[in-house]
Amino acid sequence: MDKHFSQRLFDLSDRVAFVTGAGSGIGQMIAYGFASAGAKVACFDLREDGGLLETVNTIQEMGGSAFAYTGDVRDIAHLRAAIAEVKTQFGRLDVALNAAGIANANPALEMEPDQWQRVIDINLTGVWNSCKAEAELMLESGGGSIINIASMSGVIVNRGLEQAHYNCSKAGVIHLSKSLAMEWAEKN
Ligand SMILES: NC(=O)c1ccc[n+]([C@@H]2O[C@H](COP(=O)([O-])OP(=O)(O)OC[C@H]3O[C@@H](n4cnc5c(N)ncnc54)[C@H](O)[C@@H]3O)[C@@H](O)[C@H]2O)c1
Repeated sequence: MDKHFSQRLFDLSDRVAFVTGAGSGIGQMIAYGFASAGAKVACFDLREDGGLLETVNTIQEMGGSAFAYTGDVRDIAHLRAAIAEVKTQFGRLDVALNAAGIANANPALEMEPDQWQRVIDINLTGVWNSCKAEAELMLESGGGSIINIASMSGVIVNRGLEQAHYNCSKAGVIHLSKSLAMEWAEKN
């Protein structure tokens, strides 16, 4: 095995990646990772002023190719508009990474329905919307890989961390990913 085998294994040259939550934290770091592996990276987040432009500028300074798209994952029309731009610009989508999400812990007895619903809408429905919009373009170019960021909180409950809405949203992301894998595996 030559010494560059691992780099070749993860080589994303000429591939196009789409990252939600690309303006901060895990999404931002994975966007840098995709870019350093050679991918062109479409970076999606709520606003440009958060860290989104920093992500794009950093990738461009690395010599990579990155573009910013803004929108809310709660609205599939925003995602479809961004994916349509990706199609116009690159003609294809190979990899998607869905990291957009929020956490705002609150004891269940103090949580009002709107706080519950907001976390479910962003963390679970937002991932569903993202997967749908991404898969629609991936299908046109023969398939792709979708990676959803869930959490260990989707499997276990941390004693003292009172966030029933978050835990349930992440359990939903894990089972959504398995469900879509079953439905879409044969479509690549
Ligand atoms: N940080 C952790 O320890 C940890 C652990 C497990 C899982 N996670 C998960 O990883 C993901 C990223 O977490 P992070 O810590 O990097 O968070 P972060 O807050 O640093 O980044 C999340 C990004 O998502 C964006 N976002 C939020 N709501 C959005 C919406 N409606 N539409 C579009 N973009 C939106 C935010 O603007 C932000 O840029 C989340 O899904 C989180 O639940 C994080």
